[in-house]
Amino acid sequence: MKTFYVTTPIYYANSLPHLGHLYTMIVGDTIARAKKQRGIETYFLTGTDEHGINIERAAQKAGRTPKEQADFVVSYFEKMTARFGLDTAHGGYDFFMRTTAPFHYEGVSQLWRQVARAKTPKGNDAIYKGHYEGWFCAACAAYKTEDEYQKGDPPTCLIHDTPLDRISEESYFFRLSDYDEALLSVFESRPDFVRPEARRNEVTSFVRGGLQDLSVSRLRTSVSWGVPVPDDPAHTMYVWFDALSNYITAIGYGNKTREEAVGFEKFWPALHLVGKDILRFHAVYWPAFLIAAGIELPRAIVAHGMWVDPSGRKMSKTLGNTVELDVLHKHFSIDAIRYFCLREMVFGQDGRFGYEALIDRANSDLASGWGNLSSRTLTMIARYCDSHIPSSVIPEEKLLLAKRTGVDTDETTVAGFIEHARNQFLMQFESLAFSRALETAWSVIARVDKMITDAKPWDLAKDENQKQTLDVVLYRSAESLRWLSVLLFPVMPEASRAMWNQLGLEGSPAHINPAELKWGGLKEGAPIGGVQPVFPRIDKAKTLAEISGQQVQPAEPVPPMTHATEADAVGITSFIEIDDFAKVDLRVGQVLSAERVPKADKLLLMKIDIGEEQPRQVLAGIAQYYEPEKLIGRKVVVVANLKPRKLRGLESQGMVVAASYGAEGRPVIATFTEDVPNGARLK
Ligand code: MSP
Repeated sequence: MKTFYVTTPIYYANSLPHLGHLYTMIVGDTIARAKKQRGIETYFLTGTDEHGINIERAAQKAGRTPKEQADFVVSYFEKMTARFGLDTAHGGYDFFMRTTAPFHYEGVSQLWRQVARAKTPKGNDAIYKGHYEGWFCAACAAYKTEDEYQKGDPPTCLIHDTPLDRISEESYFFRLSDYDEALLSVFESRPDFVRPEARRNEVTSFVRGGLQDLSVSRLRTSVSWGVPVPDDPAHTMYVWFDALSNYITAIGYGNKTREEAVGFEKFWPALHLVGKDILRFHAVYWPAFLIAAGIELPRAIVAHGMWVDPSGRKMSKTLGNTVELDVLHKHFSIDAIRYFCLREMVFGQDGRFGYEALIDRANSDLASGWGNLSSRTLTMIARYCDSHIPSSVIPEEKLLLAKRTGVDTDETTVAGFIEHARNQFLMQFESLAFSRALETAWSVIARVDKMITDAKPWDLAKDENQKQTLDVVLYRSAESLRWLSVLLFPVMPEASRAMWNQLGLEGSPAHINPAELKWGGLKEGAPIGGVQPVFPRIDKAKTLAEISGQQVQPAEPVPPMTHATEADAVGITSFIEIDDFAKVDLRVGQVLSAERVPKADKLLLMKIDIGEEQPRQVLAGIAQYYEPEKLIGRKVVVVANLKPRKLRGLESQGMVVAASYGAEGRPVIATFTEDVPNGARLK
């Protein structure tokens, strides 16, 4: 019996679920449904990562115990997964893992013992006791080397922009430095182990760059919320050791009851789906722990990109550009969200998530695409065929007549096209190229739509002699819809089921193996179900207006420079020394607020965070070109050591750098396309 095991990361129980969490779950859910559809016994795991200093601090801030904090967050995850049809009751995950489960403590302790007993490939003890001295980011739950933080007192995390913790204490170490060759040989011999290729290259070069041993415990006196180190309770296990092992403890490693209920032997190894943000933990640390413990490596580590806002900026609460799950749920169907996520993000690359794009896709691809093909086909079957599936064959004596209408009398043409598309779709799906697979499915929709438009069934219906021609056109369209319901089921389970029922079919597309679809499954004379629109059109203006009341609109991208004049391109006539340039203190800043200055048409008053205790107040003559609210959250370059001066009675404590072009000196604010912390100096 073939089995399949797919996991999402377990999410930190310090904050509420967001779009990123939802996305990885949707991908996992889609993969699991596709496997189940093929009759493969599949286990789909998701859950929460509940230990560590970050959860402890979040709990403290909220006046809860860490366990209460975890329970609180988990209750939101439960609500979210139920609402979005991702929980077990809706055919989604098979188990929601929590690292506070007692069986997990048992399993992870066993793993620790197994690793602690092991020798590295170079013959040393895999775990040893030492002293850790360095910086730690609580939000990443990761130790930071010099090139991974912004220097300062204390230094700050380059990812989170938050101060790091200084650690100087006794610690157990995992001898990661001895696993470089073992890991490189895995990456080399199994090209599919880390996917996509760009990520494989990334971890390969990380390992080639040299691995440092990893601190895998904290003193209980510094971090008490976690699993105690077996036989040394003065230490708490490093949260990533604890968290990564959930993938095996959840299915029964180290616990008999769980093993009997699920089956480690049965389901391991897993395909781990992760965001690229946590690639290193999964593709380097986790395989090294497993090699040490003598446990088979995962089937694959597949890293997807991150969702950014429509202008390409990272989503964050401070920027006000996050996608609220409540808003999503209120305005969009689950299937439209699933479709958008899988169609819009080219797997592995970052994707832009915007409500407008979501509405456009839902209207064009779903309402006017698949939905329209379905409703026009079924409505015509209702009208012209008395709601029964028509015949698929044109009798000999009517062939000539049919040919005259231009309809292809050879059924195998359309059947062959669909079969070919199905094979392509399945291959693309298997390699997780969801976006391309969906394009392939939509090529079928376009083709069938065209067949109907060319055949004009409404005209054929006027001629009694063309009844058989009309029938085959409608049959082909309905049969294509049957195939589409099966192919698209893992992506849009609800819509596929609805289409299936409207075609009058029994059972569910959830259990039909798409690889075994055969043309001609619809039975002539069978009654169809009631016809109802599956994807109602979304009123774009109305929905966007409603949403904008609930969400801060993201900024527009900077307009391209199209009207540079010759004057802008004058040559450089004099040079300065590097010391002259060094006198200008240019800093990365972020606009916290922006407003117009009364009675000054050109001026905007901004508060800009340049990494100092207080934001700077800066005035800029850009009001004619920039809507103030669109600047909020924008990263800018600030001249920080410009002598303060007063404009209209207001002090300006710096200057925002902008390009200036055209006869009227149109300003275009300089910005960054990559993440950079506030206060970073430009050199
Ligand atoms: N607890 C760790 C994972 C431990 S797994 C053994 C963790 N948790 S997390 O809550 O920060 O979740 C990170 C994951 O959430 C990412 O790897 C990704 O799957 C998902 N995403 C978070 N933000 C995202 C986007 N903006 N876009 C897409 N996915 C994102 O790391």
